[in-house]
Amino acid sequence: MRPEHVKYLRCPSTGAALRLDAEETVNGRVRTGRLISKADGSINEYPVIEYIPRFVTSENYATNFGFEWNLHARTQYDEVSGHKMTEDRFFAFTGWPSNLEGQVVLEAGSGSGRFTEQLLGTGATVISFDFSNAVDANYQSNGTHPNLLLVQGDMYHMPFARDEFDRVLCYGVLQHTPDPEKSFQALVPVLKPGGHLATDIYLKSIKFWLLNTRYLVRPFTRNIPSERLYWQCKRYIDFMWPLVRLLRKLPLGQAIIWRLLIADYSTKMPNANDQTLKEWAYLDTFDMLSPRYDEPQTPRTFRTWHEKANLTDINIALGSNGVAGTARKPITVDHT
Ligand SMILES: C[S@@+](CC[C@H](N)C(=O)[O-])C[C@H]1O[C@@H](n2cnc3c(N)ncnc32)[C@H](O)[C@@H]1O
Repeated sequence: MRPEHVKYLRCPSTGAALRLDAEETVNGRVRTGRLISKADGSINEYPVIEYIPRFVTSENYATNFGFEWNLHARTQYDEVSGHKMTEDRFFAFTGWPSNLEGQVVLEAGSGSGRFTEQLLGTGATVISFDFSNAVDANYQSNGTHPNLLLVQGDMYHMPFARDEFDRVLCYGVLQHTPDPEKSFQALVPVLKPGGHLATDIYLKSIKFWLLNTRYLVRPFTRNIPSERLYWQCKRYIDFMWPLVRLLRKLPLGQAIIWRLLIADYSTKMPNANDQTLKEWAYLDTFDMLSPRYDEPQTPRTFRTWHEKANLTDINIALGSNGVAGTARKPITVDHT
C-alpha cells in the first residue's frame, strides 16, 4: 500500500482512523507493517502483508475463491482472452463514463481484479477489497498502479468510512455471501450522498435456477476441498471435451453442455482458441460447484432491495451476471 492511501482506511471494529507503522517500504510502497487504531481506550492492530492491509485472515467461507483466482489470476482478463467481455460488461451495465478522474471508487469482492483493471483505466482512485487471498492475484496484475489501494477485508465489517466513495461497484459477489440482501445493504452507507451504486446478482428463474443442474450437484461438491474438486473438474472437462465439440454443432447443444456442468464460452468468445476455452471451462465449472453460498434472486426482489435502501434513479436490467442494478444514494441521507 502507499502511505498516502491510509486516509481511506478505518478500524472495522470502532470506525476510528488508522495510523500506519511501516516496517519495510519498497519503491514508495509499504510491503510490511501495521495499521493501528486507538479508540475508547482500546488499541486494534491490523497487519500489512505483502503490500496489502489485511483486516481478515484467509480462513473463511471464501477460500475456494482465493484458490481459483490465484490459479487463474489472468484467465478472465480481456487481454488474455482476446475478447472485451469484462470491458463490455462493465460499461454496458454500470452505464458509468469512461473518464472518472478525480473520483474515488470502491470495488467490493474484486477476485483476480479484471474489473479493478477497468476501473483503473477510468483514471479514478480505486479502493478494491476481497474477503479471500484473491487480493494477492489482483496484486500481481494491478498492485503497483499508483491509484490503487488493495485491501483484504469483509463486506460485513468494512474498513472504510461512511459517505466516502463517489461510486461503489460489486459484480459477481452478492449471491456468494451468506446473506445477499444484508451484503447489498452494507454497500450503501459507504457511498457519498449522490454517489452511484452498480451491483449484480445471479438470476433466479425457472430456466436459470430450477432447471440448472449445478444446484442439484453443488450441495455435495461445495464440501470437497478446493484442490481435489478442481482436479476432478479438470479431469471431467478433459474427458468430456470431444463431446462438447460435437454438441456445439447441435441447436440445443449449448443448453446441454451447461447442464452437463461444463462452462462453455464458445458462443460468447467466438474467436477464442481451444486452450482458452478450456481454461475458462476449468475455472468456471469449479466456480459453479465450489461456493459455500449461491443464492440467486428474482429481478423483483433485487429491485425491492434498492427501494428499501431508499436509493434513487433505480434501474434493474437482465444481463451482466443475471440481473444488474444501478442506482444513486439520495443527497439527503438518514442513517437511522
Ligand atoms: C465470483 S467472485 C467475483 C470476482 C470479481 N468481482 C469478478 O467478477 O471477476 C466473488 C468474489 O467475492 C468475494 N467475496 C465473497 N464474500 C465476500 C465478503 N464478505 N467480503 C468481500 N468479498 C467477498 C470472494 O472472495 C470472491 O473473490
